Amino acid sequence: MNTEITIIRPDDWHLHLRDGDMLAAVLPSSAKIFGRAIVMPNLVPPVTTAEQAEEYRRRIIKARPKNSKFMPLMTCYLTESTSVEGIRAAYAVKAFHAVKLFPAGATTNSDEGVIDINQVYPVLEAMQEIGMPLSVHGEVVDPRVDIFDREEAFIERVLEPLRKDLPELKIVFEHLTSKAGVDYVFEQDENMVATITPHHMLLTRNDLFNGGMNPYMYCLPVAKSFADYEAVRKAAVSGDPRFFLGTDSAPHPSRAKEKAGAAAGIFNAPTSIGYVAQVFEELSALDKLEGFTSIYGARFYGLSPNGSTITLAKRAEPVEMDWQIKVGGDVVKIFKPDTPLYWDLVD
Ligand code: NCD
Ligand code: ZN
Repeated sequence: MNTEITIIRPDDWHLHLRDGDMLAAVLPSSAKIFGRAIVMPNLVPPVTTAEQAEEYRRRIIKARPKNSKFMPLMTCYLTESTSVEGIRAAYAVKAFHAVKLFPAGATTNSDEGVIDINQVYPVLEAMQEIGMPLSVHGEVVDPRVDIFDREEAFIERVLEPLRKDLPELKIVFEHLTSKAGVDYVFEQDENMVATITPHHMLLTRNDLFNGGMNPYMYCLPVAKSFADYEAVRKAAVSGDPRFFLGTDSAPHPSRAKEKAGAAAGIFNAPTSIGYVAQVFEELSALDKLEGFTSIYGARFYGLSPNGSTITLAKRAEPVEMDWQIKVGGDVVKIFKPDTPLYWDLVD
């Protein structure tokens, strides 16, 4: 039997679109599903000014498929020299919808991020005052902290003190992966929210090594234990508005994935909404899907939900596709966990 569900068109509250040929290749996958996306600023060089964001936004608009109404929402890459006045002015005209904190060295293209959070306090204070969200890559970079504990250590070392100093600052704990992170967000108030990715609802660290080391299951923060995976899935389907969808779709060409020093990032845009619906069905929570994908994030960012809908269907047989897209002379592989995919978009 085919099951269908119609929901308000989702938004993606955490997306990497890259630029140039890669942007042109990956954008249609997101534009087909999502009404809007918070676009991550970790280009090379990073998007640090409103002017750069506006130019990037225009390139995205230009790369949209014909008749697409997809709207990119731009973000600012926080550095230790980000200007307070620049942020105030850009937020007033919504040239930026959020500021992204990458601890320097934590992930792909984060080298120009923040080393000492105290250096950016004037910016964070201004953001608290104007109600501008801070989007956070929540991992410490201390090489002495086990990679699976870096999210938990970030809570203790950075988030707790920050919340004490600036309790009204709106914070998005991006791509939550740990039980510690989930428990922490549940304990906080409405100023602290979190995005959850499709892949962290499907993977544990076993998948990184299953059948041999697999760079296509590698992203940051890295997938964790079964207990963490269970906690993340439970939070996603909880119906608590502090948890919403951010795919963290992060394309890398195969030549950057299939090598020693494989790039971190999973390209999940084409299968994202299908896998999310599938997990919600597995957990008997399809009635909570629309809040997670299409309502709570918009509310947090002060926006109305999209005015259109999408329909998803559960197929009798696993969904078939090419599982890769061409970019230049290379390919980008589409997220394909061991679990077959049964849900997809009805065109
Ligand atoms: C992202 C990327 O490739 O830009 N990689 C990832 O593993 N998620 C950066 C990020 O969000 O950490
Ligand atoms: Zn990301």
